[in-house]
Amino acid sequence: MQSISRLTDLAGKKVILRLDLNVPLKNCKITDTTRIDKVLPTIKFLLNQNSKIIILSHVGRPKGKIIKDLSLKPIQEDIEKKLNEKINLIEKNIYEINKDLIDNFSEKILLIENIRFYPEEEKNDTNFAKHLASLGDIYVNDAFSCSHRAHTSVCEISKFLPSFSGLQLDLEIGALKKITSNIIKPVTCIIGGSKISTKINIIKNLIPKFDNIVIVGAMANNLIEHNGYNIGKSLKEENVSSIVNEILSYSKKKNCRLIFPEDVVVANDLNGHPKIKELNQIKLDEMILDIGPKTVESICNIIDNTNTILWNGPAGYFENPNFANGSTAIAKKIVEKYKEDKIYSVVGGGDTVSLINSLNAVKNFNFVSTAGGAFLEYLEGKELPGISALN
Ligand code: 3PG
Repeated sequence: MQSISRLTDLAGKKVILRLDLNVPLKNCKITDTTRIDKVLPTIKFLLNQNSKIIILSHVGRPKGKIIKDLSLKPIQEDIEKKLNEKINLIEKNIYEINKDLIDNFSEKILLIENIRFYPEEEKNDTNFAKHLASLGDIYVNDAFSCSHRAHTSVCEISKFLPSFSGLQLDLEIGALKKITSNIIKPVTCIIGGSKISTKINIIKNLIPKFDNIVIVGAMANNLIEHNGYNIGKSLKEENVSSIVNEILSYSKKKNCRLIFPEDVVVANDLNGHPKIKELNQIKLDEMILDIGPKTVESICNIIDNTNTILWNGPAGYFENPNFANGSTAIAKKIVEKYKEDKIYSVVGGGDTVSLINSLNAVKNFNFVSTAGGAFLEYLEGKELPGISALN
């Protein structure tokens, strides 16, 4: 994979830049600009080299149809403001655009309207790829979070142009390599979420490489129940006993320590009064909503003895502050070690990222991934089509 960062001869070149500007929109207003902010360095890098930038991105899932509410207009306005640079949002049909027309636009940045308005995009269509490629001189993928999609502007296009990775994609892959291949041990993963079946492949992929895997959140409830405790009306997944057995025996075989809650915080419902309980004290009308203080202490001890950490999934129902103690304590411990320069930390997953955002702690983690599906698939050890295309 060749990085754009090494290129110094981009003056006058037309660069097709695939970004993931798929930001959350409410009534056509952006509610979180993180994904935009992260790719600004790449756009600035290309502007400084005097290239002409043709940005391709999707927002939402319009399924090949023009949907007005999924226009890139609010994104165009946000980038214009942040860069103080005029951007031409090209709304006309992309097949009516050619290289000469691109030359005639005075703006240095052109933004093609939502690429998923074209049904060919999600089909990884060769003719569509050829047309997109005909608009530029080189192609840059700076959309790690889309790289698990075999779509035209992520994959097929790279067959027809010299292709490079962008600055943000380089950072993302670099961080992920530090927790999957170039690991400084001991290494720990803290993994949460509601369904163990959605994380089984990640856990299986990490067990042989990791020293500790800490399972928290609702998916730990299945493990607690498996160990013979009553979990009351806690959230749990049905029919996963074979998955749980598989995880337990594989971790034993590979000498990976598997940790799950030894005490919990329960309530009668999501807004109920929090009570700390030992695992054998949970009543039928109670639900587990956070890890207890003993578990927090054990996890903090593990973090203390860890050099590399991956965190995906909060420890409890942190949206209610009564059940946010576990997640907050984990975040604070990682931050403490980061400040002492004693840990390399990678965090991913929407809930975990919003938790550390709410604690204003993003800058105190080594890498915070904004990729959802792509982040998880990479951790499962899958090959991402967008990355293979660059290779
Ligand atoms: C994401 O938000 O994870 C990416 O933009 C990919 O979006 P998709 O899941 O709609 O393909």
